Amino acid sequence: MEYGFASPEGKASRDIDHAVAYVKELFCDNSGGHDAEHTLRVFRTAMVIAETEPDCDRGIVALAALLHDVDDHKLFHTANNANARAFLAERQIGSGRIEKICSAVNSVSFSQNRNKKPETLEGQIVQDADRLDAIGAIGIARTFAFGGEHGRTLEETIKHFYEKLLLLKEGLNTEAARQMAGPRHAFMESFLKEFSEEVGEIGEVDIP
Ligand code: ADP
Ligand code: NI
Repeated sequence: MEYGFASPEGKASRDIDHAVAYVKELFCDNSGGHDAEHTLRVFRTAMVIAETEPDCDRGIVALAALLHDVDDHKLFHTANNANARAFLAERQIGSGRIEKICSAVNSVSFSQNRNKKPETLEGQIVQDADRLDAIGAIGIARTFAFGGEHGRTLEETIKHFYEKLLLLKEGLNTEAARQMAGPRHAFMESFLKEFSEEVGEIGEVDIP
């Protein structure tokens, strides 16, 4: 399959195609924040960042990005990366690479690592790609989808921007991700400004 960036060839390329098919199937019942489209965007963004980081192993980046949410505790009741490991073993990936992929995946989550920077470059790249998908227009859409699913009001959901999303830009690991984050961050700020202005205008109207 063609992905629009220099992807690995041969078996590595087929492994990626299989991982794409796997996540499409696995996330088919999810909507909004954690659908397959989220994973596929993180994958594409990670590969774009990887092209600017010559020292990274792009095969590891690709599979770690594609598998980064397959054992997310909010969605699946697996332990020790069971879904990722089962997929990778089935594809006959060597145990050394399986460990590298799982360690990259485990370093991505913001909450589970108390903001610790991933130790490997591959983990840093996938973390950046996942965070870029939480900001900008896509981030706004995902956040309100999450708020809706959890029965929260718009005002309650707006708090999440100040608690988390506006802070993500500062913690990015790679220069390429920082570049991409600039306009996305600015768009969130202008959205929040417009939102509060519109709410303010309505607030000033006297209801007869
Ligand atoms: P991921 O697993 O991809 O890192 P999360 O599970 O943290 O992401 O969040 C998925 C989406 O839901 C994100 O876009 C995030 O901003 C949104 N989200 C997470 N927590 C909240 C919350 N408390 N209120 C609103 N949106 C949230
Ligand atoms: Ni994610």
